[in-house]
Amino acid sequence: MTDADFTPDTAAAVRQLRDELNAQGKKLVFTNGCFDLLHAGHVRYLADARALGDAMVVALNSDASVRALKGSSRPLNNENDRAEVLCALRVVDAVVVFDDERVTSLIEAIRPHVYAKGGDYTVESLNAEERAALQSVGAEIRILPLVPGRSTTATIQKMHAPQGGKLRIAVLGSGVGSNFSAIVDAIQDGKLDAEVVAAISDQKDSGFLAVARKAGIPSHFVDPGTNPKKLGEAAQKEIFDHLERARTDVVVLAGFMRILKDPVIREYSGRIVNVHPSLLPKHKGAHAVQDALDAGDSEAGCTIHLVTAEIDTGDILEQGRVPVLPGDTAAVLHDRIKQVEHVLLPQVLKEWRQRGLAVR
Ligand code: GRF
Repeated sequence: MTDADFTPDTAAAVRQLRDELNAQGKKLVFTNGCFDLLHAGHVRYLADARALGDAMVVALNSDASVRALKGSSRPLNNENDRAEVLCALRVVDAVVVFDDERVTSLIEAIRPHVYAKGGDYTVESLNAEERAALQSVGAEIRILPLVPGRSTTATIQKMHAPQGGKLRIAVLGSGVGSNFSAIVDAIQDGKLDAEVVAAISDQKDSGFLAVARKAGIPSHFVDPGTNPKKLGEAAQKEIFDHLERARTDVVVLAGFMRILKDPVIREYSGRIVNVHPSLLPKHKGAHAVQDALDAGDSEAGCTIHLVTAEIDTGDILEQGRVPVLPGDTAAVLHDRIKQVEHVLLPQVLKEWRQRGLAVR
């Protein structure tokens, strides 16, 4: 087959397919996107979308519209090739290339029964024009979860990432920064082949940021927003942007007292590590050391673990134990725990690749 043999579908042909399905009481699903470099995230999303009906049409952004959306370096593959690859999938019944910024007119022309969109949108954040068109043709709107960590951008980054070499780590913290210091010392002593590419804190005057400044590490204060416990959406995005700009391999939470959410959790899945001052799964949360004392535990410790959307629950990479001694206060016990953290955290980072952990 040559390039010339492949032709995407027309809106009129897809409308005919829709009418045939309709006559049989069946449903046509419609979705749209760029699908530049097809990956498992795309395929799983498309399979989920197709399962919402009996046939599926994909509206594919033309080359010009991908460029407008993603910049002049994209698409990597031209629209005809992208359409041909999509058409070869079992779950795709038709592909229409569209040139506009919106799919409004295609929705009106095709009148799909179901409209599927990836979970980076909500029904509310859909374009108002498209939403109105969907409502006017009676299409059901379904938002599907995206597969974490799979994206064309991530794939491109992986291809550019050096195979060996220094691990590019970004460290986030809110407190005095003793774990951060331990990482910086391990690097300076030649024990850890890594570079701290960004230090990010939600506390402007923290010891943590002072450590970064002293070591000449690019440091960023991110205003956490008005809620004293949560990190606002703007701050979540700002942190993500800092990580991306610094081309971060691994995100280290070293006493970062706020909960990270998407996009960081999604895009850095498998590449975020936290140090927690308890022997998880015991004593999750912000008062772990006091909780160990209150529970009358005879030993305490720390856990180095991967971070997921659920607090203090990701895969455990390493744990270290210390005794609880008579007369211990939370501060004294915490200091004893930190001595172990300062060894284990740099150790895990040193072994990151050997342990088969993800890097971009
Ligand atoms: C550490 O004990 C860590 O386990 C917890 O926060 C503390 C941070 O201490 N998540 P520091 O700022 O590194 O001294």
